[in-house]
Amino acid sequence: MGHNDLVVPEIEMPAHVSSAVAAYPELSCFGEPIGVPSGGVWPITDIYCAGKESTFEFLENVLLEVMEVFPSPYIHVGGDEATRTNWEKCEDCQHRIKKEGLKGTAALQSYFIQRMERFLSDHGRTLIGWDEILEGGLPSGATVMSWRGIQGGWEASERGHDVIMTPGTVYLNQYQGDPDHEPLAFGGYVPLNQVYAFDPVVDSMSVNQKQHILGSQANLWSEYITDGKESEYMLFPRLVALSEALWSPREQKDWKRFSNIVPRLFERLDAMGVNYAKSAYAVTAQSELEQDRKIRVSLHNELYGSEIRYVLDDGALSTESPQYTNPIPLEETATVRAGVFKLGKMVGDTLVKEFRFHKAVGKTVEYSPIYNDRYQGNGQGTLTNVLRGSKNFHDGQWLAWLEKNPTVTIDLENLSEISSVTVGSMENQGSGIYFPTKVEVLLSKDGRDFKKVAEWRREHRPNGNVALANFLVSFTPQQARWIKVEVTNLSHPPTGGSCFVFLDELIVE
Ligand code: ACM
Ligand code: ZN
Repeated sequence: MGHNDLVVPEIEMPAHVSSAVAAYPELSCFGEPIGVPSGGVWPITDIYCAGKESTFEFLENVLLEVMEVFPSPYIHVGGDEATRTNWEKCEDCQHRIKKEGLKGTAALQSYFIQRMERFLSDHGRTLIGWDEILEGGLPSGATVMSWRGIQGGWEASERGHDVIMTPGTVYLNQYQGDPDHEPLAFGGYVPLNQVYAFDPVVDSMSVNQKQHILGSQANLWSEYITDGKESEYMLFPRLVALSEALWSPREQKDWKRFSNIVPRLFERLDAMGVNYAKSAYAVTAQSELEQDRKIRVSLHNELYGSEIRYVLDDGALSTESPQYTNPIPLEETATVRAGVFKLGKMVGDTLVKEFRFHKAVGKTVEYSPIYNDRYQGNGQGTLTNVLRGSKNFHDGQWLAWLEKNPTVTIDLENLSEISSVTVGSMENQGSGIYFPTKVEVLLSKDGRDFKKVAEWRREHRPNGNVALANFLVSFTPQQARWIKVEVTNLSHPPTGGSCFVFLDELIVE
């Protein structure tokens, strides 16, 4: 069997096993029946019991069957994303911790994986696991898949393990274009050129480490994938870019050349009947707020040397439209339309982006408490910079608070007549992001005495989709200089865990 037709099975343990635990509740710590909701479950607490001998007997029998079906020299046992709260409370797990002289549940997980490693190596197979298997030590025969960045792969190769690098850059379940124009995907953005630029071998690694880097793996988790055609859409053309990136000598990698073959690549995929994404032809807009409340909108297409044309407001987009060369200055509400042209024809979708100016644009904002350090957007000006966030929650336009209730205070610098505040927010319950449940608006003329002028409420409801929303809080027009917006976070969803509340703009009118 050659490498071309090697299928490596992955049998997850001790977590990502809801379906197994639902079918065989006795494999969990407390034997309670559980359901299997569609989509993601987070955090993953319904995991195999590591105390009962019967769990290991079950898994060894499963692996024996798997080894009969799959001749692969490698067997992947997962090992990722286990939340061990049940192990803390389970008599059997605690008994094993004592008996084996282990230091807590992290060491128990390490015991679990090491035991499976011995079983597989006794049967002549090599264990692969996600980088969590490094925690607590592992026999050097095991191969590590580094998914939480490349750090795990770095450490594993230093400790003499073989490594497959599979960081976020090769998670093809993430967006490859502007989320407004793409099918629903996991929040994150990996366009074609980023995939092409990926190299699993890092310059600063030692010769020894480099020899342990076997290559890379693209991942397509399917929470948001509806059918085979959509899988193809997420995979192509990014998988072609990744193949060239991984299988070409470094000095032959050339984004300009790859850009130029994209039209022919698309013809070939058409001929093969593959449903690929044309997102590489899409225009993306970036903009920055400058002094004097002006923004500059820059337009971009990832392919080398693209011809981008644009219009403002209702003009029709054509080969006669102005060609984009320099950032477009805007000082009032406008809609930008743009597209990529090749040989006199537009080749991708039209980008349509509204930039809505309002009374708070460019004004000073204070936050209490300060936003989460993982979601800092553009800093304090993020909520008054005209720029809106997308369904990709890493797009740099979102501020977030975990469990906390943010109070945002805006200083308009002068008394102004105000009649509403619109709160831009996002919901992505699968990623722990929930719409606010309450927004209160308070106004002040002196920055000390604030008077509540309006309150808005919303009941939490389960939502399997990712949604963007503008929540309008309006009131009788009145004069004020300072505005305080108090946002209530759901904090703890009924399904367990913690909630983020996400904000991208406070539109004051
Ligand atoms: C993973 O994405 N949980 C390996
Ligand atoms: Zn247990």
